[in-house]
Amino acid sequence: MKIVKTIHELRAQLSGQNRIAFVPTMGNLHEGHLSLMRLARQHGDPVVASIFVNRLQFGPNEDFDKYPRTFEDDVAKLEKEGVYVIFAPDEREMYPQPQEYRVEPPHNLGDILEGEFRPSFFKGVCTVVLKLFSCVQPRVAVFGKKDYQQLMIVRRMCHQLALPMEIVPAETVRDADGLALSSRNRYLSADERREAPELAKALAQVREAVLAGGRHADIEQAAMAAIKGRGWQPDYIAVRKRSDLLALTEGQAAEPLVVLAAAKLGSTRLIDNLEI
Ligand code: PAJ
Repeated sequence: MKIVKTIHELRAQLSGQNRIAFVPTMGNLHEGHLSLMRLARQHGDPVVASIFVNRLQFGPNEDFDKYPRTFEDDVAKLEKEGVYVIFAPDEREMYPQPQEYRVEPPHNLGDILEGEFRPSFFKGVCTVVLKLFSCVQPRVAVFGKKDYQQLMIVRRMCHQLALPMEIVPAETVRDADGLALSSRNRYLSADERREAPELAKALAQVREAVLAGGRHADIEQAAMAAIKGRGWQPDYIAVRKRSDLLALTEGQAAEPLVVLAAAKLGSTRLIDNLEI
């Protein structure tokens, strides 16, 4: 396994490869990330992983500075997964000048749900992801369904910009109690960690209520109130169409749905989703 820090070295290392499978990450790797590496292996060869905490996608009051950086551990984990190259640029390498050209996703997708509560988050994600794709030039890239809206936005970006590559989705990996694995789980206190699986439980209850034929707006409100009652501060719990992440309007024909949620437990913001 090679660790490369510059775009120049990366290109030299990968020259002539045309079946690269790529997994972009911000490091602090857990089983969720590692499952993406394994899926990548099934879809291409060699596997390239990137580790880069992308300042552009963090808001001014978000956790960029305290985001966990565990490079040595990450390297050991990726070595075990048979990753061929780790691309770990520093900020000066990725953004030698201010990144003035940015990729803006459409407002009807980029400014809803996560985008409503984290303005310009998806612009930061799209910009770094396109730049990473340009550095790595993969044939496939794997993204987790844990970040459902991110996966969809990246997929559409590839399609609209005619990038010669495919986006492969990976299922969400959870702890035994149902909590979706996330680098941010490590911010939780012991008490909060015990409470955290309630978000996934709330999503499962929403799913049941939707399948039982309830009105989506009522179900969402009840779920928000229930989780608030347990001490959470929810940003949203929303039942949406899988096709465009918009609400199903009254009278519209049934179509595949997903329920998405974001809520703060203490000072930690967790997101999760469940297909219905
Ligand atoms: P990061 O949060 O490190 O996640 C990297 C990839 O791992 C994403 O595709 C994410 O959806 C996936 N992932 C995270 N937790 C998961 C879980 N429990 N199960 C399955 N997959 C999981 O997402 C980012 O980084 C950044 O926005 C990035 C795309 C790297 C751009 O900076």
